Amino acid sequence: MNYLRKTLYIVVVALISPLCMSAQTLPFQQKTLSPRERVNDLVGRMTLNEKIYMLQSDFFYRGCERLGIPCLETADGPLGVASWGLKGRATAFPSQLSLAASWNRDLAYRIGAIYAKEWKARGIQVFYGPGVNIYRSSKDSRNFEYMGEDPYLASEMAVPFIQGIQQNGILATVKHFVANDQEFDRYHVSSEVSERALQEIYYPPFKAAIQRAGVGAIMMGYNLVNGVYCAQNKQLMSDVLRRKWGFQGTIMSDWGATHSTLESVRAGLDMELGTFDYLNQRQLLPLIKFGAIKTSEIDSMVTHILLPCFRLGLFDKPVSRDLSVPTYNEEANQAAYEEACEGIILLKNNEGILPLKSPSSIAVIGPNANPNVVSDNCYDVKGCSYGGGGSSKVNPWYVVTDLEGIKKAFPQAQVSYHEGVSNAYKRRLFSNSVFTTSQGKRGLQACYVSLVDSGKVSTGTRSINQIDKQIDFRWEEGASAVRSLGAAYQVEWKGVIASERNDSILIFVDAQGGYRLDVDGSTVIDKRHSQTFANQWVKIPSRKGRKHTVCLTYWNRNCHPAEIRMGWDYAHAVDYSEALDLARKADCVVFCGGLDASLEFEGTDRSFELPYGQDALIQALIKANPRTIVAMHGGGAMDMSAWIDKVPALLHMLYPGQEGGTALGQILSGKVNPSAKLPFTMERKWEDSPACGNYDETRMLRKVFYREGIYVGYRGYERKGIKPLFAFGHGLSYTTFAYDNLSLVVTDKKKGMVKVAFDITNTGRQDGAEVVQLYVHDPVAMVDRPYKELKNFAKVFLKAGETRHVEMLLRDDAFKYYHPKRHAWVLEHGKFDILVGASSADVRLRGSIKL
Ligand code: BGC
Repeated sequence: MNYLRKTLYIVVVALISPLCMSAQTLPFQQKTLSPRERVNDLVGRMTLNEKIYMLQSDFFYRGCERLGIPCLETADGPLGVASWGLKGRATAFPSQLSLAASWNRDLAYRIGAIYAKEWKARGIQVFYGPGVNIYRSSKDSRNFEYMGEDPYLASEMAVPFIQGIQQNGILATVKHFVANDQEFDRYHVSSEVSERALQEIYYPPFKAAIQRAGVGAIMMGYNLVNGVYCAQNKQLMSDVLRRKWGFQGTIMSDWGATHSTLESVRAGLDMELGTFDYLNQRQLLPLIKFGAIKTSEIDSMVTHILLPCFRLGLFDKPVSRDLSVPTYNEEANQAAYEEACEGIILLKNNEGILPLKSPSSIAVIGPNANPNVVSDNCYDVKGCSYGGGGSSKVNPWYVVTDLEGIKKAFPQAQVSYHEGVSNAYKRRLFSNSVFTTSQGKRGLQACYVSLVDSGKVSTGTRSINQIDKQIDFRWEEGASAVRSLGAAYQVEWKGVIASERNDSILIFVDAQGGYRLDVDGSTVIDKRHSQTFANQWVKIPSRKGRKHTVCLTYWNRNCHPAEIRMGWDYAHAVDYSEALDLARKADCVVFCGGLDASLEFEGTDRSFELPYGQDALIQALIKANPRTIVAMHGGGAMDMSAWIDKVPALLHMLYPGQEGGTALGQILSGKVNPSAKLPFTMERKWEDSPACGNYDETRMLRKVFYREGIYVGYRGYERKGIKPLFAFGHGLSYTTFAYDNLSLVVTDKKKGMVKVAFDITNTGRQDGAEVVQLYVHDPVAMVDRPYKELKNFAKVFLKAGETRHVEMLLRDDAFKYYHPKRHAWVLEHGKFDILVGASSADVRLRGSIKL
């Protein structure tokens, strides 16, 4: 009986189980089906409203509750879990530019994998990063979020980084496509750029992210490209991303950068980020009803959003936090430390002053050495030195400051500290107006007037006359203070300042936009045509009782944010005496300065000059103690011309993350041998930059002309014949390397395959790593080509005295250029020179091949 019952049970179960399966497990839930089949099934089950609901996102991808599709949480990178402080504390990794400075592909993968853990520990599934825009100009204040000036380097570092993230189950979003290379007026500026420059310089990292790393999503830039907003640019989205590169994932706008419904959908946008104005039911349903948009187009958009999620299995496990990964993670702290060690670049080291040999005392001076970061909402804290500001800013668990790192590395030394000059110095000045109007009232007489198209003052009635107590303004688009003036306006402030001391007067202006400063009837600063952010100051000789008339005029032509500030002080008020006293008494000085999150953040450009006072302080320190080592923080090149030839050693810290101080200490003491190399060129003066004149002097046309074309970075300096301060790829080590025995073999002439081999020896007494760089030069071509272009590199770790045989491959794309008329990549057969070196300016081996 028992046996019979059991048999009957088995037969019944066997018969009904497929029915139960299909009732419980719908095709889109079955892992055995392909992601495409699953998405097709899911989309087929969704109502039109459910689909439309998915087309908008902020820090969540929206789900479909009825069908059990959860929402996915997203977080900004690219320096760790960010998102404007909303996601709590997290590991603050070095900047993306630091990762590029490591030139270490394996490290990029490892860091990507640890990022994935950081995301999982918080139950976040989508990463808004990495950024791979090209470092075109040092003034772009988002350069620290990107991977440098060279398209090959940026591609090679982005690919393993994205793989590290996605292979560990987090969806990456490469951003901001494309030519979003300045922050000034970023919402409205049009990048006027040639097809060849796009193909050779600006597209490659995005293309590599799509085709080699299989990135799941792409974020479009805020800007316009050749007159069309990126997020409704058919050529970029439909032709390039979808048709030419075969991208199947999500195309989203940047935050608030969707500008239309029909145009955006037709151009190929899938997701509106940050706003809920265009890809919603109210806008879409009527367009669908009247046939302007087909439901199949909505299906494709939803498919593009869901496909990468299914590919990464995001819906195949609960979307909750992975409790096996701690949010405060020692492994991540260690990774941040290792990344910092490989990202700090030793640029200058005269007579081997570094590593420091058992100093008995060190004076640590400078605003970035000991910033105030202890706060619950670090986003708002000025002076953090672990990162630039904006959406990438992480709220860290802790930060090892440079001061702490130096103390830890030199336990025997007496370490003293002084800030020297504050990076907040100029802001304090602005809040203290001592001006009077010509009628003797406190403040400045202000006259705001509208401008007509020609730039002339309008004769109409729209003007405002008032007394402003101080000049400290930032007007966002539509700000009530200036709304009545229309899109273009001029403001003139006039006042009198009376000197109470026998001292010169310093006047500071920092502004985004054009301005002119007249003192006592003479123009002392003329930045009428500037469209970028500039910090300027002048010294006005004065004495007690003297009065000076000051007139500041500002022009804005619908550029946002409009910003202008003015401050003043007596020249002798800047007091370096305590810092200099410490410097004199110490064996050596480490000056830690540069920029920080309050000076470099998205939405505005930054100045090429250092913050006020740093130049003068460094020069005074060198006089007080010639053993002054400079460690600069910041997202790229800055003006060092006043002192660079006088300091014995310089390190560029970039933004080294929470463990930057530890890494600096270990490098100064020699326990870590520096191995980073510049991922950008450092110009001696701004005028040397290939972007100068093509960047911020565009006379308010809301266009930025990429006149330098493909000659970006080292390509541009070499063409102009200008020797930069430090070349692309430059970086020193405490050991030395010899290159030898170059051999070049064409392994496949038709396919343009070349094997490059050589020996590299660590000829010094310390273990170290060398980044060997391979450049290609095409001596004869139908079109103008750069003198050399990076086409491969390797980071080789060598014990002292060790020799390694290095082999690198070049494929045909290393020799091709983009033909502007044929609209195609072309390989012109003939002779090519192969240059192997330690930087773009330090070629050690050269040979030629024929293809
Ligand atoms: C930035 C993006 C960021 C987004 C969300 C935008 O302002 O440009 O990079 O992902 O905000 O925070």
